[in-house]
Amino acid sequence: MNDVVLTGDRPTGPLHLGHYFGSLANRVTLQDKFPMYVLIADYQVITDRDLPGAIQRNITELLLDYLAVGIDPAKVTIFQHSAIPELNQLLLPFLSLVSVSELHRNPTVKDEIAHSSQRAVSGLMFTYPVHQAADILFCKGTLVPVGKDQLPHVEVTRLVARRFNERYGEVFPEPEAMMGERPLLQGLDGGKMSKSRGNAIALSATEDETAALIRKARTDSDRVITFDETHRPQVANLLTLAGLCLGRSPQDIADEIGDGGASALKKLATEAVNEFLRPIRRRRAEHTEEEVRQVLAEGNAAARERAIMTLEEVRAAMGF
Ligand code: TRP
Repeated sequence: MNDVVLTGDRPTGPLHLGHYFGSLANRVTLQDKFPMYVLIADYQVITDRDLPGAIQRNITELLLDYLAVGIDPAKVTIFQHSAIPELNQLLLPFLSLVSVSELHRNPTVKDEIAHSSQRAVSGLMFTYPVHQAADILFCKGTLVPVGKDQLPHVEVTRLVARRFNERYGEVFPEPEAMMGERPLLQGLDGGKMSKSRGNAIALSATEDETAALIRKARTDSDRVITFDETHRPQVANLLTLAGLCLGRSPQDIADEIGDGGASALKKLATEAVNEFLRPIRRRRAEHTEEEVRQVLAEGNAAARERAIMTLEEVRAAMGF
């Protein structure tokens, strides 16, 4: 079977090391193996907030991050929701294939509602997973590299594909989620790494900002550094971070530090991160905003062409 990879990000702010090790590194590998689409999910920004915020700025920064880590626009189609009206046209028939109770049951949507600061839950909050099905199915995506929180959405996509095919004849493949094997990086305060929590090292952060963030990281007072994820999660997280950047095991680094304590660990982690990010930061600075606009314009045009073809096929299958 000819696999097609599709994945995407909401442009809500700069990408950080959690994104890098969780998904970006994997994309750089996948782009050499499969036709691949990367979506800037700009319409999805307004699922859990009222306004899109500094959307153009965030999209530009996101593209700069992509180019900096080595996502190659010659191999990957990078595009955005708001440039592809056909996605919205696919949404409508797709919505007819899922029940309201299925939409209510989605655990990721429930979690987002629980953490939302919005006064009212919008209809988009419940229906965006179906829009995400259109994101994946418009290009007949078969492999969807995502984190665990996105699995319910891939399930919705599979349901939509299956039911569409049952009702109207075989049009869509049933895509599969692709989960990373990398150890999960926590934020520097022990919570989920997230820029809104101030515990994440952005790929675009300066060396000084990186040093300051790691200096503030929580540790414990035990001088002997050991890798113990259960009893010393914060120390283990810094060891994991340094290990990922150095391509070494966290145990090995713990042994090297021995009784050097938290300060030696932080010093080593800071150097490891800054060393690792140096070429990425350099490449980020080499790209211009003009170039980024060009990349997106070309990606949007290619994605749109694909979406028009699929929409035609869908209309024909449905008898419109
Ligand atoms: N929901 C994803 C996120 O919040 C972004 C996204 C939108 C996506 N459409 C997608 C991811 C399609 C994978 C496939 O990060």
